[in-house]
Amino acid sequence: MHTDILVIGAGPAGYVAALKAAQAGARVTLIERRELGGTCLNRGCIPSKTYLHNAEIIDSLNRAAERGIRIADPTCTIDLPQVVAAKNQVVRTLMGGIRTLLKSRAVEVIHGTAVLESPREVRVDGTHLVTASRAVIVAGGSRPSLPPIPGVDHPHVLTSDELLDLTRMPDSLVIIGAGVVGLEMAQIFRSYGVPVTLVEAAPRVAPFLDAELSRTLARSLANRGIVCHTGATVSRITTDAPDRLRVAGEGIPDLTASHVLIATGRQPDLTAFGTLPVRQERGFVQVNDSMQTSVPGVYAPGDANGRSMLAHAASRMGEIAVENALGGRRALDGRFVPGCIYGMPEAAWVGLTEEQARARGEIVVGRFPFAANGRALCGGHSTGFVKVLAGKPHHELLGVHIVGPQASELINEAAALMAMEITADELADTVQAHPTLSETLMEAAAAALGRCLHLPPATR
Ligand code: NAI
Repeated sequence: MHTDILVIGAGPAGYVAALKAAQAGARVTLIERRELGGTCLNRGCIPSKTYLHNAEIIDSLNRAAERGIRIADPTCTIDLPQVVAAKNQVVRTLMGGIRTLLKSRAVEVIHGTAVLESPREVRVDGTHLVTASRAVIVAGGSRPSLPPIPGVDHPHVLTSDELLDLTRMPDSLVIIGAGVVGLEMAQIFRSYGVPVTLVEAAPRVAPFLDAELSRTLARSLANRGIVCHTGATVSRITTDAPDRLRVAGEGIPDLTASHVLIATGRQPDLTAFGTLPVRQERGFVQVNDSMQTSVPGVYAPGDANGRSMLAHAASRMGEIAVENALGGRRALDGRFVPGCIYGMPEAAWVGLTEEQARARGEIVVGRFPFAANGRALCGGHSTGFVKVLAGKPHHELLGVHIVGPQASELINEAAALMAMEITADELADTVQAHPTLSETLMEAAAAALGRCLHLPPATR
């Protein structure tokens, strides 16, 4: 069988690459061994957001009385099988959307496991061979990485792949790793009523975040009753009763829980490369800014190359791979890719952290608290702030960091403006609708310049 562009993996990198190639007029074959949509749709971004929305509903119900809404019996119980079913319905709907899009562009979808036999030949399920005349795009994604801790193979030790399919609520949960997955799951399951303990090896939660955001998140976790041990490592997980795991290590007391979630990062899935000698670095496949591997004609967008393990970055990398494979020239500019930690509150960022920006030269910093924003207060959200970092003397935007309501939405305006090389002065001069949360971004830019009218001058 012959095709022009052969794509392996139908996650955000692969299916977008397939659509892009078909849009450009190429014959496209897409091979996927599991479900369309990859981790993001089936086990990651989307399932977790349905669970998170439930947590937000519970939060709202808990705060209803203080806002004058009397609910006769405010007891909340979670019907986990129904939660799973509702999540699966959302996933099915979106998967149907991807299937329709692929069909509408005549992408041939093969269900099977693909392994490269040569730079242009792929063996499917060990039987038939597909040959690509233009390029092969390997978008095999990643899977949770399990630390070498004795006991991680216990059936109650889960990864994010399994946690959101449980149909019985955990009695209690220890989460190893306070990164994006660990923090989101901690907040979700805590609001579902589960006692949660986080164990993080680094000295602070989400150590990759701007330190101020990390501190704000840590306070919010404590307020929610989530116990957090930082600078701590787990050395073993044992079991002393069928439903009781014991977690021991350094910097933590002996912990017990019905379930343990491993959230210590992800590792690339490079199985599709077979024995092809693609150059690797720290276990990831090495690509240039065009997403080309060391083997001509073979591209590797998405998690597999480790440049940015984010769905939206993966999709853009998929597009870039195709454009280059079809003779165009386009490079990845990773500087303005926003990142988010979903929860209550959310954290979101783009560009340099304050520490990184200060290391590069003189900067101005502006902060605007949500406690001074009308729309935030109307919704009962007084926690968090927007922080804008700009360089001296031209005030180019270097980084924006947000912790608070809708941070994951607000960050996109910041990312777009940064990509367009807007300065803090220009951002401060924009007109943002009132009352909206977005006003905080404009106000923080004004604060960086000492021009903010909705903060007293002393805060400068
Ligand atoms: P992560 O890299 O975000 O966080 C892992 C955390 O575990 C780090 O804070 C690390 O210090 C800690 N850690 C590592 N080994 C440890 C150990 N043995 N004991 C205690 N702590 C340990 O990884 P995570 O949360 O598993 O997410 C995986 C990937 O998936 C990330 O690259 C992330 O970007 C992506 N992802 C993104 C999401 C988003 O954008 N909201 C959501 C889910 C995943």
